[in-house]
Amino acid sequence: MLAERNISVPASEIRKIFNMITGRTDVFDMSVGIPDFDTPDHIKEAAKRAIDDGFTKYTHNAGLIEVREAIATKLKRDNGIDANPETEIMCTAGGMCALVLANLILVNPGDEVIYPDPGFVSHYAHIKLAEGVPIPIQLKKENGFGVTAEDVEKLITDKTKMIVLNSPNNPSGGIISNTELKKIAELCIENDIYVISDDAYEKFRYDNEKPLFIGALPGMKERTVSIFSLSKTYAMTGWRIGAVTSSSEILEAMTGLQEHIIAMPTAVSQKAAEAAFAGPQDCVDEMLQTFAKRRDIITKGLNDIEGIELDPPGGAFYAFPDISSYGMKSYDLVMKIMKETNVVTIHGSAFGEFGEGFIRLCYAVSTERIEEAISRLDSFLPKLL
Ligand SMILES: Cc1ncc(COP(=O)(O)O)c(C=O)c1O
Repeated sequence: MLAERNISVPASEIRKIFNMITGRTDVFDMSVGIPDFDTPDHIKEAAKRAIDDGFTKYTHNAGLIEVREAIATKLKRDNGIDANPETEIMCTAGGMCALVLANLILVNPGDEVIYPDPGFVSHYAHIKLAEGVPIPIQLKKENGFGVTAEDVEKLITDKTKMIVLNSPNNPSGGIISNTELKKIAELCIENDIYVISDDAYEKFRYDNEKPLFIGALPGMKERTVSIFSLSKTYAMTGWRIGAVTSSSEILEAMTGLQEHIIAMPTAVSQKAAEAAFAGPQDCVDEMLQTFAKRRDIITKGLNDIEGIELDPPGGAFYAFPDISSYGMKSYDLVMKIMKETNVVTIHGSAFGEFGEGFIRLCYAVSTERIEEAISRLDSFLPKLL
């Protein structure tokens, strides 16, 4: 009954675990990447005002112009990208919708698309949906789970159409250094390769390097789709709102396709995004400081457990420790941990074949939960050695 397209796009293994624990109050959930903060008040107030002011109707398919103008200001301020709000910016329903649209308008059947592995599960699914050929690039622990131009170069063939970059990376927190990013940009120009820059975690970095954004590098704007999400930056996962910039040609195609799928993201969420980008940014700084403290706690706590090894994650809010010393598949370990300790984690293999040997713990949860989870893991895991 189901179309082949459906069969080739796998269901997320994270959702499977999430569904296993739905309704259970006895678990220490560190599975899904949902910040435990509430959306900042000034953003909620803007949304309430938007309803009263009548933002309850269809808008332009790329989003309201004042929202795109606020995005243009953000792109200049945070990312060094100059973009025309009329033609080079659109709003989408979360970063997710932008990822799907970008794949569908750029990838032809049979085109090869390089994507991070371990990586965000939907990247693989979107390439398959567009009938592209997913080519995993292994993010290695010894490189801090960054991407190197040398590794990219090895995977380039005459069928390579695009590369998906995600820095900081979900699930590892890996960061692509500015030096490598510049080299990757050169490779893309030389080989006529397009880029999706998935910047969902742009604000949560713990290194001291001021990040470069590939879409801002010379010659890259016309071949890069830069995708930003409000989900993590402003704790707005449920609002389903994100922002995209690229060349006017790519943007026109993405906006045209969006019209046939969701028309546009919810008008109220657009107005909330405007307030988020144009308003004070100290809420983001506060979240970053909190995540940084939790990152230190979880890094130390996990490393103190016999058998676990973790280099401090460079960004995002996930720890991705090496659990290979326990001598079992990450899925089996995650199930055992859940049964014995009620701590819920995600197996590394859920993020691709190169995620095997690791598990992911999301630390966008309270310090108390992190500490309790670590103490439970510490009383169980060493017994497996
Ligand atoms: C790397 C990455 N990209 C994109 C997304 C999609 O986020 P959203 O659609 O909520 O903006 C996520 C969500 O977890 C993610 O981890």
